[in-house]
Amino acid sequence: MAFSRQQRLLVVVGVFLLAFLWLRSNGIIRPKQTTPRVNSEVDSGFQPQFTPGTAKDASSVYTKTIVMAALKSDDTSWVTSDLQGFNTSIYTVDDVAASPKIPENKGREAMAYLTYIIDHYDDLPDVVLFFHPHRVTWHNNILLDLNSAKTISRLNPAHVARQGYFNARCHHDPGCPDWIHIDRPEAEWDMVKKFEEKYFTSAVWRELHPLDPVPKALSQPCCAQFAVSGQRIRARPRSHYEHYRQWLLDTPTEDKYSGRIMEYNWQYIFTGQSEFCPSQHRCYCDGYGVCFGGTTDENLLAWLKLLRERELLDDELNELRKDEALNKDRVVEAEAEKLRVNTRLEELKNEAYKRGEDPGERALECGREWRVGDGF
Ligand SMILES: *[C@@H]1O[C@H](CO)[C@@H](O)[C@H](O)[C@H]1NC(C)=O
Repeated sequence: MAFSRQQRLLVVVGVFLLAFLWLRSNGIIRPKQTTPRVNSEVDSGFQPQFTPGTAKDASSVYTKTIVMAALKSDDTSWVTSDLQGFNTSIYTVDDVAASPKIPENKGREAMAYLTYIIDHYDDLPDVVLFFHPHRVTWHNNILLDLNSAKTISRLNPAHVARQGYFNARCHHDPGCPDWIHIDRPEAEWDMVKKFEEKYFTSAVWRELHPLDPVPKALSQPCCAQFAVSGQRIRARPRSHYEHYRQWLLDTPTEDKYSGRIMEYNWQYIFTGQSEFCPSQHRCYCDGYGVCFGGTTDENLLAWLKLLRERELLDDELNELRKDEALNKDRVVEAEAEKLRVNTRLEELKNEAYKRGEDPGERALECGREWRVGDGF
């Protein structure tokens, strides 16, 4: 019996269709993904609960891991030479042979941070410290000498345990308050300080947080260095972090922007607050044991004002020295002023460090209950 042309064609098409469906169902052919993958837990309306944690008693030690995204060209030897009592996970993002490994060098440090969380979700330490590989950088705090080793070694794990999420930078500028605005009109873009704002659209927000309303602003002190308790990381299921990482892998947005978009997402991911600008003196006092006394920012701000005075004297002296002979008298005067200001800065700083050694003083300044015998 002869088949007609149409019948033969039908059989051929049918066989191809069945073969295709079989390959698809066995995962051999994957559907092309143009938009970020839908994540059932992200889309199910699950709302994380961000409850404060509790500090351990004074005699207990915390398990702590430093997580870093470094380039091959970065020198991270200071991490082991200057710091004791930490485990480390240092990702060399531009080396495909490196271990630990990231899926792709995309999204700057965010790819390493998320990969650490995803790969260690079930065995997280008490505190994870996410830091940049630079030993000294303006991102760091002036009262900690801009030094990362000093910052990390003084960072108080009890404070992180209580707060859950701690931005390592105490100074609000840049990043706070009222910083990134989603869908900001072009006329208001600040292409120097907030060049990522242009890319932070409500479409991007919905890709990251499909069910959450678009916030008024996204703010936190800059620069993507922070500490999070293991408990706080687990306030979200692992699938959320997988979803954020998938967004980084899928997004056509350039690295420098997608990395910055994540920089202003961490506070939302770990606190549920889009604007997170904690008190600067509490950050220094409870975070690092540098306590200026009082219960407001007042004394810290007075110290910073004095520092500004010193910087202006430095600028002035540089100018005067261009014609030292002509400006002799003023140089002598300005040098004397500078000495006086520097002495006062040192005195106040030393007092703040001293005060910060006392857990009772810390608690008082930060409005926490404290009893003799309690730890930090
Ligand atoms: C480092 O990791 C090991 C193995 O997981 C653990 O036993 C130890 O307590 C950790 N140390 C710190 C300081 O976190």
